[in-house]
Amino acid sequence: MSERKEILVSDDDIKKQKEIINQMAVLNRDRYPKFHIETYGCQMNVHDSEKLAGMLTEMGYTHTDNLEDADVILFNTCCVREHAEIRIFGRVSQLKELKQRKPNIILGICGCMMQEKEVVEAIKNDYPYIDIVFGTHNLFKFPELLQESLNSDTTIIDIWDDNKSIVEDIPIRRAEGLKAWVNIIYGCNNFCTYCIVPYVRGREKSREPHDILNEIKSLANEGFKEITLLGQNVNSYGNDLPIKIDFADLLYMINDIDGIERIRFMTSHPKDISDKLIFAMRDLDKLCEHLHLPVQSGSNKILERMNRKYSRERYLEIINKLRDNIPGIAITTDIIVGFPGETDKDFQDTLDLVKEVRYDSAYTFIYSKRKGTPAEKMSNQVDEDIKHKRLEELINLQNIISIEKNNEMKGKVVEVLVEGTSKRDSEKLTGRTRTNKIVHFKAKPELIGKFVNVKIIDTKAWTMQGELISE
Ligand code: 5AD
Ligand code: SF4
Repeated sequence: MSERKEILVSDDDIKKQKEIINQMAVLNRDRYPKFHIETYGCQMNVHDSEKLAGMLTEMGYTHTDNLEDADVILFNTCCVREHAEIRIFGRVSQLKELKQRKPNIILGICGCMMQEKEVVEAIKNDYPYIDIVFGTHNLFKFPELLQESLNSDTTIIDIWDDNKSIVEDIPIRRAEGLKAWVNIIYGCNNFCTYCIVPYVRGREKSREPHDILNEIKSLANEGFKEITLLGQNVNSYGNDLPIKIDFADLLYMINDIDGIERIRFMTSHPKDISDKLIFAMRDLDKLCEHLHLPVQSGSNKILERMNRKYSRERYLEIINKLRDNIPGIAITTDIIVGFPGETDKDFQDTLDLVKEVRYDSAYTFIYSKRKGTPAEKMSNQVDEDIKHKRLEELINLQNIISIEKNNEMKGKVVEVLVEGTSKRDSEKLTGRTRTNKIVHFKAKPELIGKFVNVKIIDTKAWTMQGELISE
């Protein structure tokens, strides 16, 4: 096993991966091997899996949904909550039998969980049939690790503690041809006291603007219409760069790229929402009217214990400013219930805030203790029963609000980017509004990939039904 501290990737390291990709492509020319990737967690992970798939595709592998057909199986893991980790270990255990039946299969496990020392120990001791283990900081090295593993009987383990460089030019196999994720910043410096992300994803590192712009220009040339800029905290973009540029500046540059029609971004931290960003959202025609703004709690005491660096009052001020400047903006959020020390009164503050903001939707979570985070050691951990009851109450409240908000859309005509046929009803198409709501409507499949106007006729908490008005 190799363990490395903070590291700079050299040109030779990158060149080596390219050489291995070419060697593997020659080796696989007449063999048509297949790969399967299971991804857990956030959009960052989904996008990392697109990079793994890109490298595998260039090495001559094709994708399969069927585990039984795969020659390489990868698990890209998430550790943000304990529940995810338990599920992943369960899935990995199920593969033991497959590996016994087909010993030549390569099983790899990577992503955030691998940055936790105890997890790697557990894999070494309890899951010896895993072939490759690597982390978030050395994803670019996957071709080398795969080649090594094909020539070895032991588990190849390579985890880095951090990576100060950004490796550009990793091939990406995107899931579809209309909407694309684009990384703009990696890592997080915020250290919210409940969160493990800064420990497994490292410090903030912004990509150079010209790398981002070039990637988006080629996406536009390939026919992509919508891009979502990705980062744990996109609003810190540029803080670490030698040139003077911030997130809003970047948005102005991206808005000028011909062919891209919609721009989204996630995730934003309320402490970094500047007036400049709000005005950019108001003024830039391609920037969609949707902001995901995690609040986490409505109680000032809990926000402080969480180290969120804003108050309930400041958060509400931002929401008002957003609504004053960007009519019809959809606002979504993340909320944690049962953070250590959360009393009934604190939880009531959260419910009151939800009633006041009236989110379009909310991702709600039960606080999960994460090893090594400050909140793990905090006093007054909340009883599991209470956490579950609070979650249920919060979900019920938000559902009512989501339904009411969608109901207000009835009779309105909205622009929809048509993404495909509806999974439930093959006669219907499905797409999203600029506010990121899903709309189903009857129309011919030739409209897939186009922008159309749809009148909303019926709504639920998560989806809306419409009728085509104009193409
Ligand atoms: N427990 C519960 N939820 C968490 N999140 C992050 N860490 C934890 C944790 N330890 C939630 C936050 C964050 C979202 C991605 O996951 O709400 O915004
Ligand atoms: Fe975690 Fe807070 Fe960073 Fe988000 S901003 S990734 S919640 S530490």
